[in-house]
Amino acid sequence: MTFELHTERLVLRPFSEGDVDLAIELRTDPVVMKYIAEVSTPEHVASRISVFCRRSEDGSMGMWSVALKDTGEPIGTSILLPLPEEESDTRWDFHENGKRVNEDVEVGYILKPSAWGQGFATEITRRLVRYAFEETPLTKVAAVTYPDNGPSQNVLRKSGLIDTGTRRAYCMDLPGFAITKTQWRAAQAA
Ligand SMILES: CC(C)(COP(=O)(O)OP(=O)(O)OC[C@H]1O[C@@H](n2cnc3c(N)ncnc32)[C@H](O)[C@@H]1OP(=O)(O)O)[C@@H](O)C(=O)NCCC(=O)NCCS
Repeated sequence: MTFELHTERLVLRPFSEGDVDLAIELRTDPVVMKYIAEVSTPEHVASRISVFCRRSEDGSMGMWSVALKDTGEPIGTSILLPLPEEESDTRWDFHENGKRVNEDVEVGYILKPSAWGQGFATEITRRLVRYAFEETPLTKVAAVTYPDNGPSQNVLRKSGLIDTGTRRAYCMDLPGFAITKTQWRAAQAA
């Protein structure tokens, strides 16, 4: 199984060692990282690549790199990963003593500024939500944003996620969004 996902304009491939330059470009850019985390150095990002390549036991969850279908240009990364509540970093450890560490799985995306304003983040999010409900056992997809990250909230709403109010995530109280498989199926049928 490859876990490669396609949309009309994009291809999502499981993040690999070869995506190091993309990760460095994104994570060293203060504009991109404004609502994500501290800006990293290239060396720090490079040291985390093996972590970014981790996938859940069945391979279905983890990070994907996103590229334009027509040119192959990498434009960003996206995730389906356990959502941390009292940890400040994304949870890369999927299981603890054989148990799921967290009930909620989050969808997330980071795009290069040159790819903003073209609907790509929404295309990615809709594809990952569809994938989660059609091809994995997940029954809920969640997300959080910083309170003033309007563009990301817009992406989530356009992708069908519903405001769930303030919730605990990344050691903060943040606006929460979620969609259940039942809600997603109902929206597909409408
Ligand atoms: C958050 C982020 C992904 C949003 O990207 P974005 O480009 O604004 O979002 P979208 O992909 O939905 O595109 C938005 C606009 O593209 C426009 N657009 C242009 N062509 C389009 C097309 N073919 N289809 C759909 N929208 C299109 C739309 O007008 C849309 O805006 P609207 O919904 O207000 O009408 C981006 O700002 C980013 O990567 N930021 C840094 C990382 C980050 O903050 N991640 C989220 C953390 S929670």
